[in-house]
Amino acid sequence: ARAPASTFFIFGASGDLTKRLLLPSIYNLANEGVLDDNFAVIGVDGVERSEEDYRAYLTDEVKNLPGSLDTEGETWKWLMNRIGYIAGNFEDPATYGRIRERQAARAQQTGNAVFYLAVAPRFFATISEQLGAAGLLNEEAGAFRHVVVEKPFGTDLPSAKALNRRLLAVASERQIYRIDHFLGKETVQNMMALRFGNGIFEPIWSKEYIDHIQITAAETVTVEQRGRFYDATGALCDMVPNHMFQLLAMTAMEPPNSFDADAVRTEKTKVIEAIRHMRPSDAIGSAVRGQYRAGFVNGEAVKDYRAEKDVDPKSRTETYVALKCFVDSWRWNGVPFYVRTGKALGVRRTEIAIQFKRAPGVLFRHLPTALKPNLMVIHVQPDEGVSLRFAAKVPGRKVRLSEVEMDFRYTDYFKAAPSTGYETLIYDCLCGDPTLFQRADTIEAGWEAVEPIIEAVRGGEDDVQFYSAGSNGPAMADVMLAQDGFQWLPLERERPR
Ligand code: BG6
Repeated sequence: ARAPASTFFIFGASGDLTKRLLLPSIYNLANEGVLDDNFAVIGVDGVERSEEDYRAYLTDEVKNLPGSLDTEGETWKWLMNRIGYIAGNFEDPATYGRIRERQAARAQQTGNAVFYLAVAPRFFATISEQLGAAGLLNEEAGAFRHVVVEKPFGTDLPSAKALNRRLLAVASERQIYRIDHFLGKETVQNMMALRFGNGIFEPIWSKEYIDHIQITAAETVTVEQRGRFYDATGALCDMVPNHMFQLLAMTAMEPPNSFDADAVRTEKTKVIEAIRHMRPSDAIGSAVRGQYRAGFVNGEAVKDYRAEKDVDPKSRTETYVALKCFVDSWRWNGVPFYVRTGKALGVRRTEIAIQFKRAPGVLFRHLPTALKPNLMVIHVQPDEGVSLRFAAKVPGRKVRLSEVEMDFRYTDYFKAAPSTGYETLIYDCLCGDPTLFQRADTIEAGWEAVEPIIEAVRGGEDDVQFYSAGSNGPAMADVMLAQDGFQWLPLERERPR
């Protein structure tokens, strides 16, 4: 269905996010035919230039993107006819006067507006307050006014709370869309279908049958041009309270009663609230921080993290973190959730691996090696799909078992349109569905669980383990699992075809 007409204001009109993700996603939505004829995008930025120049700038920029858009085609033309620009400082009330004029001029077409804050986090509250002061967040005459806030949402619990307070002073929770782009990924959304749309998984989805769970987001990219942000942030704060906990919540949540946004978000928030707070004495054995040293990723030389642009040469910031978490609920009591994420690793792979308990070995006790436990892996990216490992008899007179795999791959079944994940999120925001966005309490629960980890791990002397770029991360992360009698799934393993 078509999204209602609206004006889509992008603060940070010449930023990286706008050209790399927002514009291409809007283009893909236009291509799908789900944008209204009266849809318009208005870039807002400090650069003085004409609307004409802004359109030319965008056309130039997207041409240089990998998998670039067809800027000669009809869709691009359609979109360019709907792109405007307002020059202005984000802190200057005059800017908001101009936005109001533009909005009034569009009143014939639509009163709906989305304000997308694709800007540095220090502007999130300021821009929202200015929008509020200019009356732009008043939802008069049935029109909607939504504010989209990007990551990072705060840098710790107090700052996240303060930001929530300031946003909620000018807009209601229903108007605020806090992005976690992992929720735009099809495979993440599929968790609900997999778990609650099937009868065979949920009955065994608990401490009785599940041994432990491994959640991995391994990246091959380095900090690239983001040294300044990243060195002050680190893998723990960059990835864990948001993306990793969202994956964990999708895995561990109770079935909501409906797809109602708050029903779903309440169940997820309950999981994050139930994550056991780490005590400093748990840190050894429950948390490993790593930092990459020079090495090779996919044959390309990578330099030391400390030698990267805008990174402190003595930095102790982690580019890798592995954690052992517990969800203190009836269903998950005692089941470890191992979470790891890192940059400059040998393989790019985001996955959720559910390891089931071993079958009683009675019948097969004569076999030289113990039976491997069943394993279900949700391949979030790349090579999206779900696989299930089980034992089968090797043909022949002797009884021997071997592991085999049932493997569902998206590409075998679905021909999906190209997607950045942002399409779903933008579309949902235009339609007023906040299910895939973070609520204030979800964000705060994430920080509440991460704070004690920060405190526990950042105090120690030799608290950062080094690993070579292109490896699987620091050896201590393997030790952490070995202590519990487990092993990480190898990152570089082949998926049988
Ligand atoms: C971002 C983090 O939120 O997510 C980045 O700030 C990270 O550091 C990125 O690289 C990962 O997203 P994706 O979609 O590439 O897995």
